Amino acid sequence: MATKPVVLVTRKLPEAVMARAAASYDARMNEADTQFGPDQVISKAQGCDAILCCSTEKFPAQVLSRLPESVRALATFSVGLEHIDLEAAKARGLIVTNTPDVLTDSTADITFLLLLAAARRAYEGERMLRQDAWDGWAPTQLLGVHLGAKRLGILGMGRIGRAVARRARGFDMEIHYHNRSRLPAQLEQGAIYHETPDSLLKVSQFLALNAPATPETEHFLNRARIALLPDGAIVVNTARGALVDDEALQEALKSGKLAAAGLDVFEGEPRIHGGYRSLDNVFILPHLGSATLETRNAMGFKCCDNLDAVFAGQEPPDRVV
Ligand code: DGY
Repeated sequence: MATKPVVLVTRKLPEAVMARAAASYDARMNEADTQFGPDQVISKAQGCDAILCCSTEKFPAQVLSRLPESVRALATFSVGLEHIDLEAAKARGLIVTNTPDVLTDSTADITFLLLLAAARRAYEGERMLRQDAWDGWAPTQLLGVHLGAKRLGILGMGRIGRAVARRARGFDMEIHYHNRSRLPAQLEQGAIYHETPDSLLKVSQFLALNAPATPETEHFLNRARIALLPDGAIVVNTARGALVDDEALQEALKSGKLAAAGLDVFEGEPRIHGGYRSLDNVFILPHLGSATLETRNAMGFKCCDNLDAVFAGQEPPDRVV
């Protein structure tokens, strides 16, 4: 019997994915689901043909250069790629794959959950009930902001941005967007294109960040850009924490410049900027964008499809480099 390829699986994945990986590969699992640092990844990858990793493991050039020669491919269980130095991977001849498409809808759903929760003061209402502090219905209690007929600005009109726009149409929002390039009309579906991010910000009563973390988007939402937003705007982020200057956002939430924010991702997560914990007008979630069983299974199967292709000497369907 031919020997199976050896694959390091860095995190505990959903059962069905683990079962497929165990059947197809000589899989080195991490049942305890401890988070591996670079030295652990390098030592556990000895003798491996590939690594199935997550965005929790970082692969800068200095880690990639220390990976054993035997490792030919890195299949990341994520659509985001900011944890891998793609140039260095390419230079080393390492194949990198990701998991596009399958998490589009679940992430857009969480964007809407954040938009609604921030606009309708879900955190304050929930807390009131849990603390047994609700005196009963009142005409002026916890008044929020209506979504309908408001302008939603979407930064980054890729797959997830467009799925957010689809949902926003159901809420009768007017959709504006900025993207590196303008979309063709059949993808725009009536959304209004802004050539510059600043032009988008000026009209965005709601702002959804859906752009990847890159050197260009680092701290995109800083003091100067927040100042461009209409007073009382609401901001949500399901992309990456690095897009937001936390101090600037918190200042604006305290001053009332921004009415509210909804955040699923944080710079330096899981150690989030502590200031968010005491702000009533921010609704926070622990990076749940793709967290449905269906989506996480689909992400895992994509990783396996990509690795299977690599081991069969074929082009993996989601090859990035
Ligand atoms: C992704 O797929 O990029 C998710 O945010 C998980 O890292």
